[in-house]
Amino acid sequence: MNPYEASPAILEQGKLLYEINCKHCHGAKGTGDGKVADKYPGVANLAGDAIKGVTEGHIFHVITYGKGLMGSHGSQVNEEERWKIAKYVKQLQSN
Ligand code: HEC
Repeated sequence: MNPYEASPAILEQGKLLYEINCKHCHGAKGTGDGKVADKYPGVANLAGDAIKGVTEGHIFHVITYGKGLMGSHGSQVNEEERWKIAKYVKQLQSN
């Protein structure tokens, strides 16, 4: 379970981490239109119906281990950072 509440400070940290580690593929709004997305066929639309329902734990897991063409980000972001990113992704999904 995510140890963080969705406070403004946590979401802001999650956003910064997302922008550094995820945005170039998943795009600023998570829709899968990042600037290198065309090099990774099948970049997921995080805001789309297929992914919208996933739990923060699932997002944490995908960040840790990767999936398909998305590599593991376990060495780039530590556990706390992964939870903050997961919170921010849920916020993106709710917009
Ligand atoms: C190199 C490009 C790339 C980067 C960087 C990247 N992803 Fe992905 N991501 C992908 C691709 C491609 C898929 C689709 C994987 C599949 O289903 O085969 C994906 C899928 C996902 C999924 C959906 C998993 C599912 O259950 O289907 C989530 C959630 C996700 N990424 C989150 C993130 C987060 C958070 C970050 C930043 C820490 C990130 N990704 C960074 C390319 C990327």
